[in-house]
Amino acid sequence: MLSNKLLPVALLYLLTSLFPVYAETIAVIGTGEVGGALGPEFAAQGHLIIYGSRDPSRAKVQRLVKQTGEEASALLPAQAAARADIVVLAVPGLMVEEITKSLGDLSGKIIIDPTNPLRRGSAGLEHAVATSNGEIIQAAAPGAHVVKAFNTLNYRTMIDPETSGGPVSIPLVGDSDKAKHRVAQLVTGMGLEPIDLGGIENARWVEGMLILWINNRYGSEREGFEFHLRKTR
Ligand SMILES: NC(=O)c1ccc[n+]([C@@H]2O[C@H](COP(=O)([O-])OP(=O)(O)OC[C@H]3O[C@@H](n4cnc5c(N)ncnc54)[C@H](OP(=O)(O)O)[C@@H]3O)[C@@H](O)[C@H]2O)c1
Repeated sequence: MLSNKLLPVALLYLLTSLFPVYAETIAVIGTGEVGGALGPEFAAQGHLIIYGSRDPSRAKVQRLVKQTGEEASALLPAQAAARADIVVLAVPGLMVEEITKSLGDLSGKIIIDPTNPLRRGSAGLEHAVATSNGEIIQAAAPGAHVVKAFNTLNYRTMIDPETSGGPVSIPLVGDSDKAKHRVAQLVTGMGLEPIDLGGIENARWVEGMLILWINNRYGSEREGFEFHLRKTR
């Protein structure tokens, strides 16, 4: 028989195992390299993950769901976004406007934008839009809080930051300090270092960081590097 003291603890344990309490619901739109890296990482921090996929029943997506955790699931993108507090746009960089608009009303939600708008130029990859993907997404979902994050590193480093041999910074830009703070907690939980680089108008320069990174890492004899920005205050 359980003592009076242990009974409430046992009941709480039973209830939380039957009905797990998740910190937040995160819709990860796109099930490619970045979606497949961030989904399991956020699930490991206690969040409920719903993937948004154009074909949620296909075997590759279902394998990712299984790898992410018992309660994870996959739905069509707009269905996943409607159920979430945070929406991650892990989608092709030149399609963000149409994909954001296809997700329905995102007002009040945090949108994490890891995308890069890239095209091939004569000297390697170049930036492919007049402003930035961060600003394009914010304009497409004016009531949402866009935070650009995770666009300046390879997806493998998101999963195993320690393999990079030292600390790695994740620049965050966006107009809501509260949303940036929330995303910074997710970043820290992954073993990466968030750094607030200002408003969404700075997204173009953060997207430029990736161009610098990729053009040095691939297609040149120069040394590769990871971004680590030292804070001075
Ligand atoms: N790969 C990296 O290491 C890395 C690192 C940092 C940032 N990024 C940026 O993050 C974004 C995602 O990169 P990724 O490497 O994850 O790309 P990816 O492997 O090609 O995956 C993109 C996902 O977007 C979904 N999607 C929705 N609409 C699509 C469409 N019309 N055509 C193709 N896919 C569509 C697909 O998921 P469903 O098939 O399930 O719909 C697809 O798996 C890009 O903007 C990239 O620049 C990439």
